[in-house]
Amino acid sequence: MTSYRPIKTAVFPVAGLGTRFLPATKAIPKEMLTIVDKPLIHYAFEQAQEAGIENFIFITGRNKETISNYFDHAFELQSTLEEKGKNALLSATKDWLPPAGNIAYVRQQEPLGLGHAINCARNFIGDNAFAVILPDEMMVSEKPFLKTMVEFYHANGGNVLGVADCAPEDTDKYGIVDVQSEDGDVIQVKSMVEKPAPADAPSNISITGPYILQPEIFDLLSKSQKGKGGEIQLTDSINTMIQTTKTSGIRFVGKRYDCGSPSGFLQANIACALKRDDMKHDIERMLKEFIV
Ligand code: UTP
Repeated sequence: MTSYRPIKTAVFPVAGLGTRFLPATKAIPKEMLTIVDKPLIHYAFEQAQEAGIENFIFITGRNKETISNYFDHAFELQSTLEEKGKNALLSATKDWLPPAGNIAYVRQQEPLGLGHAINCARNFIGDNAFAVILPDEMMVSEKPFLKTMVEFYHANGGNVLGVADCAPEDTDKYGIVDVQSEDGDVIQVKSMVEKPAPADAPSNISITGPYILQPEIFDLLSKSQKGKGGEIQLTDSINTMIQTTKTSGIRFVGKRYDCGSPSGFLQANIACALKRDDMKHDIERMLKEFIV
């Protein structure tokens, strides 16, 4: 049986400006906005941990220091909680932290696009396949989606992309797949088109992430020119790579929230609150008051 390069590292691009959340993102990174009481980036991080990933690279930028503080110990706070015997709260601040040495931060000096952000990790990934997780996409499913993708990768190799069906009128919001073949939730990708108008879209299968990518992507990203929106797009390089590397899409089955938009972010907050025993009833009561 062929064995494929293991996935040990996840890259989290968190250097974007988050303009859809201005004015909040003037001072707070979008990725630190909370879904109930945990920042968005924590959900992405959990997805990586659940998939067995051990190393975490954050592509950060100016004004993103709170992200590195969050993934560190907070000694004053922790010793106060310990003294007061608030053990559950103490656990919530630290039990999930990876061992020292397993997190790295790379500064993307200018926000030149997602492709450029990923390429900033090239010297730290080396010759390994790796995962990319976008903190904006909150994906709730029975089995963690990245775990499903990693298992598929170990059996099949290549690039593996998280995809989902979108409304036909929404194709201009996403990278869209041109389908080679489809077998249930597994799609062989012929090519991809960045944000096509509905009339030009080859399908309504959108690329949502996460991504499992082969390290050869870095050569392509390094040569990549600015594409749509004046940014270095990740999809342009994946598109070139498809010619030489098998690229599969795995359809996400579950509930997705586009937390990069204020409306999706609010929906995720309400959905998460409704799952919490400590607030479910209050939120249900409030929703009923508004909806009648
Ligand atoms: P978005 O396309 O959502 O951009 O990036 P953004 O800047 O975060 O938000 P808006 O559109 O201005 O509201 C998707 C992900 O890629 C990261 C972002 O931090 C986000 O997690 N990103 C984007 C970078 O790391 N660098 C970039 O140059 C662009």
